[in-house]
Amino acid sequence: MRAVALYAHYAAYVSGIHRLHLATHFNSEVTESVTHASTVRSAIVKLNGEATRDRDPAPIVHTSDYNIMLKEAYKTEEIAAETYGEILPMIEFDGDTELYDALEVIYFDEQRSVEELRMMLMV
Ligand SMILES: [Fe+2]
Repeated sequence: MRAVALYAHYAAYVSGIHRLHLATHFNSEVTESVTHASTVRSAIVKLNGEATRDRDPAPIVHTSDYNIMLKEAYKTEEIAAETYGEILPMIEFDGDTELYDALEVIYFDEQRSVEELRMMLMV
């Protein structure tokens, strides 16, 4: 749920000429992150777990500079892609193909975000 707060904050504060498209981009990332969180929550329920109500404590850098925002988003998406990459083999081992498919979709979304941000930053 940290990504939701990060992208909502950046959609509100992004300034300059890039605000025109980046505010829309950040808002669509909010929607995507809410959907991902919902899928993960359902997966935890399915596995008889208890979903956390706490957010990742990593601070969200306050800025109106789109370059800093994109760098922070890149770091966030990289961690997300890495995390899903670690979770997938565990689900595969468990043999739940429905769950595997649901989380693989998220994994690909995160990878796409990393690549998109990499292109925006040219890193
Ligand atoms: Fe993401």
